[in-house]
Amino acid sequence: MDPQVIQKVVHEMANFTPKMSDIEGVPLIKGTCDTWDDIWRFQAHPEDVLVAAYPKAGITWMQEVVDMICQEGDGEKCRRAPTYDKHPFLEAVAPKPIPSGLQLAENMEPPRILKTHLPVQLLPPSFWEQDCKVIYVARNAKDSMVSYYHFQRMNKGLPEPGDWADYFSTFLSGDVFWGSWFDHVIGWWEMKNHRQVLYIFYEDMMENTRREIEKVMRFLGKQLPEEILEKVYKETTFQAMRDNPMANYSTIPSFVMDQSISPFMRKGMVGDWRNHFTVAQDEVFEEEYGRRMEGTGLTFRTHL
Ligand code: A3P
Repeated sequence: MDPQVIQKVVHEMANFTPKMSDIEGVPLIKGTCDTWDDIWRFQAHPEDVLVAAYPKAGITWMQEVVDMICQEGDGEKCRRAPTYDKHPFLEAVAPKPIPSGLQLAENMEPPRILKTHLPVQLLPPSFWEQDCKVIYVARNAKDSMVSYYHFQRMNKGLPEPGDWADYFSTFLSGDVFWGSWFDHVIGWWEMKNHRQVLYIFYEDMMENTRREIEKVMRFLGKQLPEEILEKVYKETTFQAMRDNPMANYSTIPSFVMDQSISPFMRKGMVGDWRNHFTVAQDEVFEEEYGRRMEGTGLTFRTHL
């Protein structure tokens, strides 16, 4: 990044307190809400692929899988730019002069791989009108909560999470950016049979990555030979992405994401919640979970 740009951003970040506003009751970053009309009117291209997820579900992992499939296993091509530059994050806003997700997307030639954390009801209508493929990644709430907590600790663009006990209540109440985990995963689940949507679970990817990569490949209408699929797999393992500066967010300066507090590629496992939840918290969680998920037909695994 140009030193002058860094200076400006450092100054902006020093005075930056992330403000929350909402669109139709969904808490979003105020800057996103301020530019909502433009986001809502975003024009997708029929060949764009959208990767969607609630925060910390493993969207970066899926972005890399999709990119590797689209680039037919060419790791060099996939390292052409950091994740956040090559796959515009639709509703992202940043201090000027960093371009917004919308600006990045509009300056990129389709077909694009785009990223969003928007709940299904807020997805700009052109994605449906243009018949775009949408891959939704869902991760169990307990591990999502833990991952989001550590992400909020290290990411200055998000509010300080407070201590774990506070955060536990905040997360369960849905008072976090992009709103309630329950509303998000259930909302998208209701679209799971739509021909444009592939609903994938983080836990399934962890259990059998090759199987899930093949699912994504077929959904994207590709037919790749075994050796290419193996390259996709190898390039997108936790270890490979952790060591890949284009995938591990290490190119974001530490005054924005301080990876000494918590690395972006943190643990990459199912069940880390056991190291955080107390027995009492687990009881509270299970009660709320049972109440919210009843009758949805949507089930998650919290261990493998
Ligand atoms: P943890 O914080 O539990 O480690 P997102 O990309 O949606 O922000 O999600 C980040 C989470 O996905 C982090 O979880 C991160 O470690 C995990 N992750 C990223 N790449 C992964 C990979 N290749 N394999 C497994 N987990 C991965």
